[in-house]
Order: sequence, then structure tokens, then C-alpha cells
Amino acid sequence: MIKNLIIFGTRPEAVKMAPLIKEFNKFSDKFDTKVCVTGQHREMLDQVLDFFDIQPDYDLNLMKVNQNLYSLTADIILELKMILEDFKPDYVYVHGDTTTTMAASIAAFYSGTKVCHVEAGLRTYNKWAPFPEEINRQITGRIADFHFAPTVISEQNLLQENVDPSKIIVTGNTVIDALIDSSKRVDDIDNEEINYLKTIVDCNSKLILVTGHRRENHGDGFLQICEALKEIATTNSGVQIIYPVHLNPNVKEPVYKILSGIKNIQLIKPLAYPAFVWLMNQSYLIITDSGGVQEEAPSLGKPVLVMRETTERPEAVAAGTVILVGTDKNKIVEKTNYLLTNNEFYTQMKSLHNPYGDGKACEKIVHFIGSIK
Ligand code: UD1
Ligand code: UDP
Repeated sequence: MIKNLIIFGTRPEAVKMAPLIKEFNKFSDKFDTKVCVTGQHREMLDQVLDFFDIQPDYDLNLMKVNQNLYSLTADIILELKMILEDFKPDYVYVHGDTTTTMAASIAAFYSGTKVCHVEAGLRTYNKWAPFPEEINRQITGRIADFHFAPTVISEQNLLQENVDPSKIIVTGNTVIDALIDSSKRVDDIDNEEINYLKTIVDCNSKLILVTGHRRENHGDGFLQICEALKEIATTNSGVQIIYPVHLNPNVKEPVYKILSGIKNIQLIKPLAYPAFVWLMNQSYLIITDSGGVQEEAPSLGKPVLVMRETTERPEAVAAGTVILVGTDKNKIVEKTNYLLTNNEFYTQMKSLHNPYGDGKACEKIVHFIGSIK
């Protein structure tokens, strides 16, 4: 029996690890798979656990309001020691680039456990953007024994860093597995959140869906983003903006302060995954700084303006569905207005692309692990 410990803590990691847990559990005769959540996120993590019906075997429940990177990192490493010593996994699986990812990799390394990095090899090579995720992902990459790279570009990055080619497996991104799974299931369930969204979406307007949370955008970046959204809403009466606001106080405070009370802007709580996918599907355009949304939107044929100066996901930019606009107010307003008025450009941008895989990433990961001698 191969003993797996899958560790994650935030919303996007949960979305992208959920299909991997499901895939390993199909082969419970071969794999003993346990799930450990750090609880770096709480409500936003629980929404995903509920939808994908995941009951963690270990829950460190670490989230504190407005937590800082120092204590979060230290707590994760300390708490994982006991779990690693108790379960003694053969493999630890971490995802992406969060503090949970980096700290769990270090803890697994200290315990002598092999580390499998899912969504490996994405790079900006700018240590301040995304912060602290670029360095989290690089540290995890140095520790990892196996690298599940979503695309050939991410594989190339790892090869340039002299990672052993036999330890890199190009799988596609597990987010596509999650997207396909949830799109199938969402039609079968009477979803309360979707029913609510149907009451607020204005079918006569062009819907702009907004999300944002990056640490490097806190402060001035978010002020500019909010001012841009305010101008877009007040100068375009045929537009509706729906913004599920991230629970980070550094985001919530400026967003509610600047954007409350504008009639064509709806600020709502974070949505559970199926409702968010439904809303992406309804939207005319998405404005975001999210990594995951940049990967999902091209598959749904939705143009995305990304509020970042640089991205570790160049595939969708190359495909033409994603444009980097940074956090400059004028640039966000200008590009949005262009997409609202220039049909030809809009149609070009919304053509379907999926640079992130065929929905079989988890199958490939499980097959690879099962074939290691
Ligand atoms: C974290 C990750 C980021 C990831 C993002 C996904 C790090 C350093 N950051 O950023 O890489 O893209 O998650 O959303 O790992 N909060 C709640 N409830 C929740 C979640 C968050 O109240 O369910 C609030 C808490 O006050 C918490 C704060 O948000 O302290 C910040 O959470 P944290 O995980 O540190 O940072 P994020 O900005 O969410
Ligand atoms: N998402 C969600 N509800 C929301 C907003 C986003 O379920 O209200 C999903 C989204 O579909 C994607 C993931 O959360 O799968 C992205 O998470 P986030 O933007 O918080 O983190 P990032 O991807 O930037 O690390």
C-alpha cells in the first residue's frame, strides 16, 4: 500500500486538489490517501470542501484574522511535524505557491518524505510579483522529488533550472479536471447560490465579473482598482459589475468603502465553486488578479483583464484571451471601455482556448505515482 498525504489550505489549492483526491480514492486498494488541511483559509476553504464532499483526516484550523506570513509559516511547519510522524506517508502532495505549499514542503523535507509538487514550474522570475508566491513556488520546486508541470512552458522553466527531466511530468492543470467535474454536476443540483445570482444578474446589461486579492496590490493598487471600477460603472449605464469580495480585510475594507452604494455594482460574499463557475459563464468580461481564474476563463471563452504587471501564466496571454493591465486606473478603464465598444476585438478575444490541459491531469499523476518502482 502506498501512503499519500495531500496537504492544502486555501481555496484555489482545494479546488485544484479535489479531483486528485477523488482519483486516488478510486484506487483505494493500492493507495492509502489521507487529506490534511492547514486551514490557512477557513470559510473559503470549507466552501470547496463541502462542494467536493471532502472530509479532511487532519484539520490544523490555523487561520487567524489578518494573519501574517511569519507566524502562519511557523505554525504550519510545527503542526505538520506531528502529523508526518503519526501517518508516516510515502509521498506528500502540495499544490502551487501558497504559504501552506511552501511550509508543508519544508516540513515534509525535514521528515524525509518525498514531495510531489502539483502545478510545478510556473515562474515570473520576479521575486516581488506575485509576492510571496513566486518564491514559495521556487522553494517548493527545489525541495520537490516529482514535478507535475501543467504545460510545456512550465516544464521548460524547470529544465532550465537543471531539474532531472525524468522527474517532470507534463499533466495539464488539475483546474480543468475540477472545472469539467463541476460543470457536469452543477446542472443536476438545485443550487441556492445560483438561484440567488439569477435574481441579481441584470440580463439587459453586460456583466463584468471582478475578483482580486494579491498582496502586492494591497494599499494603493486596490485604491486604483476600486476607482477604476467606480468610473466604469458610473460612465457605462449598460454595464453591471458583480464582485464577490475576498475575505482578506486588506481587500474588503477599501472595496466596501469605495464601491458600496453604486447602483450597478453588486458586492457579494465569496461564492462556492459551482456558483462562481456559473457566474463566469454569464459574464461578458472578467477583471481579476487571480491565478486560477486566468486558467479557467479561456476554457469558457471569456476575455480577461489581469490586474498584474507580470504573470506566471503566459499561455493565455499568448492565446489572446488574457491582457495584462496592471493596477493603473486609467489603463483598466481604457481597456475595459475598448472591450465594451469594439465588437471585432471582443469577438477575437473571446474565441475558445484551452492551453491548460484535457481534464485528465489527475489521471496522469495517479498513473505516474502508481508506476514508480
Ligand atoms: C492566500 C495565498 C495566495 C492565494 C490566495 C487565494 C499566501 C501567502 N497567500 O492569500 O497565494 O492566491 O490565498 O485566495 O499563501 N480570510 C478569512 N476567511 C477565509 C480566507 C481568508 O477571513 O476563508 C481572511 C483572514 O483575515 C486571513 C486573511 O483573509 O487572515 C488573509 O488570508 P491569507 O491566506 O493569509 O492570504 P490571502 O490573501 O487569502
Ligand atoms: N473562486 C470561487 N469563488 C469565488 C471566487 C473564485 O470558487 O467567489 C474560485 C475560482 O473559480 C478559482 C479559484 O477560486 O478556481 C481562484 O482562487 P483565488 O482567486 O482566491 O486564488 P488564486 O487562484 O489567485 O491563487
